[in-house]
Amino acid sequence: MTTQRDNPSMVRRSLLAVLPVAAALGACRPDAPAVTLPGPRATGGEPSARGGAGPGGPRQAGVDRPAQPQTHAVVSVYDLPPRVGPARVVARLGEAVLELTTAQPGEALTVTVGLGPRLVGPAVLGVAGGLELPAFAREERTARTWGGDLLVQVCASDPVAVGLADTRLARALAAEGASGRWSQTGFRPPGNGPVRNLLGFPDGIENPRTRPELDREVWLDGPGPLADGTIAVVRRLRVDATGFLAQSAARQEETIGRRKADGAPLSGGEALDRLDLSAKTPRGRYLVPAMAHARRANPNATGSGRMLRRGYSYRNGPGDQGLLFVSFQRRLRTFTATQRRLDDGDDLMRFVTATASGAFFVPAACTPERPLAHDLLGEQG
Ligand code: HEM
Repeated sequence: MTTQRDNPSMVRRSLLAVLPVAAALGACRPDAPAVTLPGPRATGGEPSARGGAGPGGPRQAGVDRPAQPQTHAVVSVYDLPPRVGPARVVARLGEAVLELTTAQPGEALTVTVGLGPRLVGPAVLGVAGGLELPAFAREERTARTWGGDLLVQVCASDPVAVGLADTRLARALAAEGASGRWSQTGFRPPGNGPVRNLLGFPDGIENPRTRPELDREVWLDGPGPLADGTIAVVRRLRVDATGFLAQSAARQEETIGRRKADGAPLSGGEALDRLDLSAKTPRGRYLVPAMAHARRANPNATGSGRMLRRGYSYRNGPGDQGLLFVSFQRRLRTFTATQRRLDDGDDLMRFVTATASGAFFVPAACTPERPLAHDLLGEQG
């Protein structure tokens, strides 16, 4: 029998049923109808068969579990003191994470930890293409907000729970000599399926969702210390929303490549259909314009793999709002090739400036018996 989980078009059709209803009722309303999004949990997708891990399976939560991201998040980046072996600090962090998350039912609160290039660079280099992000266009770099040794992402539906957990983990890390670099809270509307960003467009439509897609595009397999890990790219992207929204509705849609009301591709079809990049008007113009963001970022155009985008909106005050971009992929190149193509021409990127950035290896989940990143960092320190 074909199940929804191994048939992307079935998933797509059932997602299709979700968005117009949610949009009609106001997808941002907290009382929008609860519809289950197909994904690893909803479709009964099992974690990979590798054993020896906690109740959540061998992979860290907060990547593709829960299938629908929680509504609040904080991303914090730390440095370890230069002469301290990272194994102990990371193991302590893992213990604190287990303490926090096992006290919560299900995946109400998730913590995802990543290790920066200084800690795992050489190990990740051969297998996943390393962790060093090159310079890209429109970056406002500062020493504090670029790079870093440790990524801690906390997600929950309760913003206070997010804050408390982040403070608890910051305290555990400070006790080990780690210092905070930058931290950013984010939010997304409740509701299932793609939700709107601060430009008013449904975001997160084109993402790997089925278990086979996620295994192929997001997770590294074994054997070896990278098994059940993935690479996270985190960027704080300030968006000139005022400038973007001053454009006509039609121009905004041409900038994205999808309709604002329901996210449908400008090439036709329904809300969650893929773009048809070859579709043209009778006069020979592309229906999805050449510089539309969704065309430029499309993996067919970039020749790269597909990334799982799981970002949050943020607002720090007037003039500083945008997207806390978080993507997970099994190769860094999936991100870098996509970003390069956006740099070469993308109508949306004219409104976007990166103000913080880093790439991190997210190792397999830890258990009370198996310290976090033990296979990777070994006994050093
Ligand atoms: C503030 C900046 C950004 C905003 C507001 C934004 C928004 C959007 C929106 C509305 C879509 C169409 C709906 C969807 O498929 O989710 C989209 C698609 C996409 N975006 Fe972005 N995006 C931003 C930055 C980026 C960056 C930096 C990357 C990666 C380097 C990226 C990668 C993608 C990809 C891969 C798609 C799907 C393209 C396809 O249809 O195959 N985006 N984005």
